[in-house]
Amino acid sequence: MTRAAPKSFSVKSFGCQMNVYDGARMAELLEADGMVAAAGADADLVVLNTCHIREKAAEKTFSDIGRLVRDDGSRPMIAVAGCVAQAEGAEITRRARNVDIVVGPQAYHRLPQMIAAAARGEHAVDTDMPRLEKFAALPARRRVPPSAFLTVQEGCDKFCTYCVVPYTRGAEISRPWGAIMSEARALVDAGAKEITLLGQNVNAWAGDDGFGRAIGLDGLIRALDRIPGLKRIRYMTSHPNDMYDGLIAAHGDVESLMPFLHLPVQSGSDRVLGAMNRKHDVADYLRVIARVIAARPDVALSSDFIVGFPGETDAEFEDTLRLVGACGFASAFSFKYSPRPGTPAAQMADQVRDEVMNERLQRLQAAITAGQVAFNRRSVGTRTEIMIERDGRKPGQRIGKTPGLQSVHVEIDAAIGDLIEVEIVSAGPNSLGGRAVALAEAA
Ligand code: 5AD
Ligand code: SF4
Repeated sequence: MTRAAPKSFSVKSFGCQMNVYDGARMAELLEADGMVAAAGADADLVVLNTCHIREKAAEKTFSDIGRLVRDDGSRPMIAVAGCVAQAEGAEITRRARNVDIVVGPQAYHRLPQMIAAAARGEHAVDTDMPRLEKFAALPARRRVPPSAFLTVQEGCDKFCTYCVVPYTRGAEISRPWGAIMSEARALVDAGAKEITLLGQNVNAWAGDDGFGRAIGLDGLIRALDRIPGLKRIRYMTSHPNDMYDGLIAAHGDVESLMPFLHLPVQSGSDRVLGAMNRKHDVADYLRVIARVIAARPDVALSSDFIVGFPGETDAEFEDTLRLVGACGFASAFSFKYSPRPGTPAAQMADQVRDEVMNERLQRLQAAITAGQVAFNRRSVGTRTEIMIERDGRKPGQRIGKTPGLQSVHVEIDAAIGDLIEVEIVSAGPNSLGGRAVALAEAA
């Protein structure tokens, strides 16, 4: 069936920040192609930018596709992008006949041609992995928030036994220094004050400094630090084994590098870490964070955990709880293990029962929340600078982020992107209350 070329689009992104970045770039590409953004299913083209990291995320794609059919039986042109597209490919169009386009995360710069093919009534599937080609082919950055993402590295060579990323995003690859620097400058020119460097293994970024000298992520951060107007630099996600000396040192001496580190550990049991093929043990992890804290004592640490990895015993889970207690994480994400097709862990014996996983997840989340509350309470009475990111729920309220990435609610007449000094006056589990210092002093 041929159909009219779409004039409007909507992009819905799931999963990690990398997908948020890709989603924004797809929107810019479609706008540059003459289409306008529209709300949800009203759009002529809906792009579902999917995540495959856990089963729930992948299943959601298929229920979302079903929901796009309108009351009158018509539907938008539907594109499935992201990691489900990469993992399932043409299988998606067989399982969901309504899908017109399947495009992987390395191929989405070819969307305009695929849309033209879909308008001719063809199913367009592209799961090629032409590494880095998309970055050169995408149009200049447009709508830039004060806190912007910049992908500098993609893919992963670590092959943790539970993880699909090495298969969906491919092998580790670093974008070249020049391309990153010009995108960063364009972001700052367009209003960004904070840039978060993204990569599945961002601290494995490697390149040269434009003069042929080999540099790592710290060299890139030091170069970005010199861009006038760029106030805050962050990076995520990192692997503990790639936290090398120079990067740790940068936490101590680059002022714009924010005191925040997301460093997933996944488990507090050496046996489980071994079975996960993490290639580090608990002691290695503790040594790394001790060195980061020595370089930057106020660093806020964050992590990821998986409960119920195949064979995880009660005692091994208790080791994870102990690690949470020892590290004082400012925040952490925890997930039930989800067997991913094609990964070694999915074939392992001793898959843990769902009830057991649920119980462990609850206990772990309670421990993480307790740590978060303690971390937040310690900041009450201190002064810090926040960057206003959005409006709060109450009239006159704004929400900003501290250097350590805590959300602060503050009543102030300030614009999105303003940097404001606040005194922290209250602390909840997930956010802080602040008072603008100028106002506090006048009172
Ligand atoms: N099951 C559960 N959690 C997973 N993660 C990655 N793969 C899986 C899986 N198969 C989690 C890890 C990782 C985060 C992004 O998602 O904790 O750090
Ligand atoms: Fe997945 Fe491990 Fe690579 Fe992280 S380091 S993306 S968990 S394989």
